[in-house]
Parts: sequence; C-alpha cells; structure tokens
Amino acid sequence: MTRALVVTGTDTDAGKTVVAAGLTLCLPGAHYWKPVQSGTTPATDTATVRALTGLPADRFLPEAYLLREPASPHLSARLEGVEIDLDRLSLPETDAPLIVEGAGGLMVPLNERALAIDLFARWGRPVILVARTGLGTINHSLLSIEALRARGIPIGGILFSGDPHAENERIIPQLSGIRSLGRLPRLASLDAACLHAAIEAHIDLAAIEALLA
Ligand SMILES: Nc1ncnc2c1ncn2[C@@H]1O[C@H](COP(=O)(O)OP(=O)(O)O)[C@@H](O)[C@H]1O
Ligand SMILES: [Mg+2]
Repeated sequence: MTRALVVTGTDTDAGKTVVAAGLTLCLPGAHYWKPVQSGTTPATDTATVRALTGLPADRFLPEAYLLREPASPHLSARLEGVEIDLDRLSLPETDAPLIVEGAGGLMVPLNERALAIDLFARWGRPVILVARTGLGTINHSLLSIEALRARGIPIGGILFSGDPHAENERIIPQLSGIRSLGRLPRLASLDAACLHAAIEAHIDLAAIEALLA
C-alpha cells in the first residue's frame, strides 16, 4: 500500500504548496507528487517545491497531467484537447511516504463528471485540509469538512496557514470535531531552513507521521 497523504485546501492560494513542501522536507524520505498541474507559469508547483526545499529530483514524481493554462483542470485539459482520466491517476506504488498536492479546492472539476474530491475518495488516503486563518475561513473549512465526510474520506486534520487568529483556529475544530495540526505562520523569508524550522516548531509532525503508517 502506498503511504500517501493528500494535501488539499479550502481554496487555491490557501498555502497547499508551501505546506506540502514543508512536509516533504520534514518527513524522512518523503516524496512529492502533484498529479494534475494547471498552469505552468511562473512555475509549476513541483518546480516551486523543488526550489523551496532544495531536495533532489528523485524525491519528485512527474505530473500525470501537466497543463499550460492556469484554469480549472477540466478547462485547462479541454484547451489542450485532453480529457483527464481518473484511471490514469492511481496512486503510484512507492515505499516512501508520498505527499500528494491536490489542485485548487475539493470541488474543482477534473472533467465533465468528476471532481478532485471524487479522486480523493477513490484513493481513500487521509487528507490534510489547509485553511487560511482570516475572514471567510470558518465557512470554507466547515463546508470542505462536510464534503469530505459525506464521501467517507478520512480527514487527518486541519492545518492553518497565515497570521494567528485564535478564535478561527478554535471554533473550526470545536464545531467540526476535526483536530488542528497547528498553524504555519507567514514566513518573512521563504527558504528551506526557515520552512523546516517553522514546521518543526508549529506543526504536529508526529500526528502526520502516524497518518502515513
Ligand atoms: N507560510 C507562508 N509564508 C509565506 N508565504 C506563504 C506561506 N504560505 C503560502 N505563502 C505564499 O502564498 C501564496 C500561495 O501559497 P501556495 O502554497 O502556492 O498556495 P496553494 O498551493 O494553495 O495555491 C504563494 O505565493 C506562497 O509563496
Ligand atoms: Mg499549489
């Protein structure tokens, strides 16, 4: 069985790539995979994670779909005359822990019939939900959690990203029953050393490692 963990978010720009980079950096031997990449400029998420972590190329799996247009995957694919096939998105067999970054949020369409969340349901692997701390996050987070639960997808926890907001960080776990894995603060300098230190200091890595067991 592939020891994979899915990093999803309440939305695009929630901080998934930075969190996934941090986890790939801090979990021994972890590999990173972005199965569906929509948008290749200024950089793909894989290239961003490589540059940010400084990890060697063999810690990265190639994208299954690498699409130029920065749009919803179903549209980016259509613009290139491609249809995303969920059967081509099976989790790769690997002995290493695998950090998988989703595209956008959960209800992003991959094709005319399937959403990102449908793919995660097929995989059945635990999901970490990256959520902003600021205004709007309660609604986005609780909706995302409800959608995951409705499909029986295991939720490993919610991981906040951004400036502290004690009440939002309290009420979402309180109302949902989903534990917080911590909050990754906004880093003034986004580099491997600072990211490594911030994940070690602020994120419950032991809980995340247990999800990969
Ligand atoms: N902890 C952080 N500190 C500093 N900048 C961050 C942090 N998290 C995210 N960012 C920045 O915010 C933007 C969106 O983050 P990203 O991880 O790419 O989001 P997503 O993958 O969810 O679209 C990027 O420019 C990224 O560099
Ligand atoms: Mg990303």
